[in-house]
Amino acid sequence: MGYDAHFRVWRGDDDKGELQDYTVEVNEGEVVLDIIHRLQATQAPDLAVRWNCKAGKCGSCSAEVNGRPRLMCMTRMSTFAADEVVTVTPMRTFPVIRDLVTDVSFNYQKAREIPSFTPPADLKPGDYRMQQRDVERSQEFRKCIECFLCQNTCHVVRDHEDNKNAFAGPRYLMRVAELEMHPLDVADRREMAQEEFGLGYCNITKCCTEVCPEHIKITDNALIPMKERVVDRKYDPVVWLGNKLFRR
Ligand code: SF4
Ligand code: F3S
Ligand code: FES
Repeated sequence: MGYDAHFRVWRGDDDKGELQDYTVEVNEGEVVLDIIHRLQATQAPDLAVRWNCKAGKCGSCSAEVNGRPRLMCMTRMSTFAADEVVTVTPMRTFPVIRDLVTDVSFNYQKAREIPSFTPPADLKPGDYRMQQRDVERSQEFRKCIECFLCQNTCHVVRDHEDNKNAFAGPRYLMRVAELEMHPLDVADRREMAQEEFGLGYCNITKCCTEVCPEHIKITDNALIPMKERVVDRKYDPVVWLGNKLFRR
């Protein structure tokens, strides 16, 4: 059954803006992105919003709905009571370009800084057979849709612009962990995780894991194991060398 919902949507850019009130029709089965599209079609044709797949797979429609970081296309209107005000704001950690669209280039910058997969120089095609358990370990991390909700949520950068230089954020520390756990990667990812990508800033609050739409256990399966490896390396270089040489 349809009803009219009260929406409050951020309109503006990084310098100035305000929440504007709209009354918009809602039909059964709709998601927040449907309502934003109806708003564009009927009352606010210049409302800027980024989206692509409407299926939770492109990672484009990230925003904050009633203060909680979410994909708008995966947030059902039935989550909210019909008389509840639904407030939609852009991700807070990144500069606003316009309305609900943010400049997420911080994330691309961090992605570029991570040295790519580094196999042994003398390894020939067919020399190595990947074990299933090694495949499975990184497969979870490869589900990432780069929605940047985890990056947006982590308190290390959310309220501290000045930490952005020294901290890559959970999504990219997870990438470092994925490569570090790869049996054929010979780069020392432990030192770079700590020194260049700010692993030490993470105090395991797990907020990143809570908002991940792919339900990746970022903290438990990537960040904590990475921290353990960094500690191993720091206190026992022989353990580190052994791991590198004999790990399959
Ligand atoms: Fe989004 Fe999860 Fe990937 Fe973070 S790890 S960017 S929350 S899909
Ligand atoms: Fe931030 Fe996640 Fe660590 S929210 S503090 S990266 S556990
Ligand atoms: Fe693609 Fe929402 S539009 S994830």
